[in-house]
Amino acid sequence: MKEILTVVGARPQFVKAAVLSRYLNENGERLGLRECLVHTGQHYDDNMSEVFFREMGIPTPDVNLAVGSGSHGKMTGEMLALLEAIMLERKPDIVLVYGDTNSTLAGALAASKLQIPVAHVEACLRSYMMAMPEEQNRRLADQLSTWLFCPTATAIANLDEEGIRDLAGPGTPTADRKRVTNVGDIMYEASLYYRQAVSAPESVAARFSVRVPFSLLTIHRAENTDDPTRLHCIADAIEALSDRTILFPVHPRTRKIMAASGVHLGKHVRQIDPVGYLDMIALESTCELVLTDSGGVQKEAFFFGKPCITLRDATEWVELVDSGWNTLAGADTEKIIEAVRAATVPANRPALYGDGACAEKIARELA
Ligand code: UD1
Ligand code: UDP
Repeated sequence: MKEILTVVGARPQFVKAAVLSRYLNENGERLGLRECLVHTGQHYDDNMSEVFFREMGIPTPDVNLAVGSGSHGKMTGEMLALLEAIMLERKPDIVLVYGDTNSTLAGALAASKLQIPVAHVEACLRSYMMAMPEEQNRRLADQLSTWLFCPTATAIANLDEEGIRDLAGPGTPTADRKRVTNVGDIMYEASLYYRQAVSAPESVAARFSVRVPFSLLTIHRAENTDDPTRLHCIADAIEALSDRTILFPVHPRTRKIMAASGVHLGKHVRQIDPVGYLDMIALESTCELVLTDSGGVQKEAFFFGKPCITLRDATEWVELVDSGWNTLAGADTEKIIEAVRAATVPANRPALYGDGACAEKIARELA
């Protein structure tokens, strides 16, 4: 039996782990794989962490490092030290990380320093904006990983452009040899599986006391929340859309910053606490359109057939822009308003994210 030590820590990673951890639970024995799930504790509020484990049937983590919030260096450094100790104790055969958070980087770096091969799921995405913490984390994780599980053809093309594959060569230690696969998008598989668990999605609006039709808004990225000018420009656009009903599940980071910087939104914006994944996908499937700076929510808008206006200057999910499902409006007040007014559902929904059997492909490759 080979042990995969999986590192998760932030909300989108729980959604991704829900898919692969379930697959490994059900098929691991047959494949000779068992999973040890480690939660770094980067996200810790019930509605940012525990609710996902409860609702999505994710196994209780074997270990919770309870690292909590802090500056990037402190948080990543603490995770690194604690993860190293666990890896030394458990001696896993593979360490698996998801996406681009500080938990991703800490997991990949701790393992790589111990010569444990790393598997990176959602590999090789690029925004080409090195100032983003996510871009730093994902580039480093890709460099450190043996298995690069890419979600799209664009990700594979990014990898080839950077020549990361060429890190391998004759005599290179096994852990440096890259194994690259386009396995499709794991969040697509999550959306297919969990939509069956949502009964009467149309009742979700009433539960959150919001009038139909409504637009769904999320904001949390550092580039928007830590830049008062950008945050105010986005808020101005939201204020100007007062003829619409907007539902805004507010990330705790954003709630704190909005309160501290005096950003108030009008009555047409219903602000609620973060919701669990099942409510979130019910909201995505009943809303009229999505406004977001989230990576995952951009894709989910597409999975549920809703146009998306992205509050960023660049996206890793470029195929959504190319196919007309996503409009990049940045933090430009006028552009956001215009994009909302012009939003339509494109006629075609191409198969951009694989066949929905991502977990099986990852598990087989690792086995
Ligand atoms: C992190 C990821 C980001 C990802 C996001 C998903 C990094 C650098 N960023 O951003 O890529 O898109 O998660 O949601 O890893 N907080 C709470 N309760 C919680 C968690 C956070 O109150 O349970 C507050 C704290 O004030 C904390 C702040 O949110 O300081 C930011 O949390 P942090 O994990 O540092 O970054 P996110 O913005 O959540
Ligand atoms: N999500 C959720 N509740 C919310 C907001 C988001 O369940 O209130 C889910 C969302 O459906 C998606 C994931 O969290 O699956 C995306 O995480 P987030 O936007 O925090 O991070 P990103 O994808 O930008 O890294």
